[in-house]
Amino acid sequence: MIRFDILTLFPNMFKGLIEDSIIKRAIEKKLIEVNLIDFREFSTNKHHTVDDYSYGGGAGMLISVEPVHLAMKTIPNLDHAKKLLMSPSGKTFNQAKAIELSKEEHIVMVCGHYEGIDARILNFIDEEVSIGDYVLMGGEVPAMTILEAVSRLVPGVISEDSPVNESFSDSLLEHPQYTRPAIYEGFGVPDVLLSGHHANIKKWQREKALEKTLKVRPDLLKKANLDLNDYKYLWELKNEKN
Ligand code: ADE
Repeated sequence: MIRFDILTLFPNMFKGLIEDSIIKRAIEKKLIEVNLIDFREFSTNKHHTVDDYSYGGGAGMLISVEPVHLAMKTIPNLDHAKKLLMSPSGKTFNQAKAIELSKEEHIVMVCGHYEGIDARILNFIDEEVSIGDYVLMGGEVPAMTILEAVSRLVPGVISEDSPVNESFSDSLLEHPQYTRPAIYEGFGVPDVLLSGHHANIKKWQREKALEKTLKVRPDLLKKANLDLNDYKYLWELKNEKN
């Protein structure tokens, strides 16, 4: 069981994710728990504002540290929780990080908005996490991304055999997959997949994964678990091209 506490000004944005589909079922099965905390409720001024101008100037408004920190302090056992701040300035989230986080029992995710949060919030945060090199309007979509990537690794959330055999699990992209019909608008399924020859199918899948990774994400090949046959195949592919 992982408990997620998500601090946000826009709790409604999470409703679609947690009230539908696999995440909903995971919550019902008590495999995960998701608490949404609207930190606007912790504003100490009468207009319930949470943002202010930034010292030193600069465009846009910044979220004050106090309402966020007051909201955090209502979370039970906060000291033992992994406290993450969604931020484009964080380390980039990836499958390895998802696996690491799936071993936690309690994850707190703080979502900024506007131009971000007063930097003093970092005194109460373990790690800043970015979901990629682009700037979003807030941390809500990043928090949903992490919630989904981590939840599906919790045993029982999805079928037991799927998580391991997927893109990035050994740093190769996934091979293509097909289902019925065998021919669609003249496009067939590769013959080997219809052959029933298990060893050939495995070999084909490995080769297609290598081919796809070489083409789309050659950077991943450096980290991948490759054997001699893999290197041979990659060498063949490279020579085909030249
Ligand atoms: N907030 C805005 N952009 C973000 C990003 N790329 N990752 C995490 N939080 C963000």
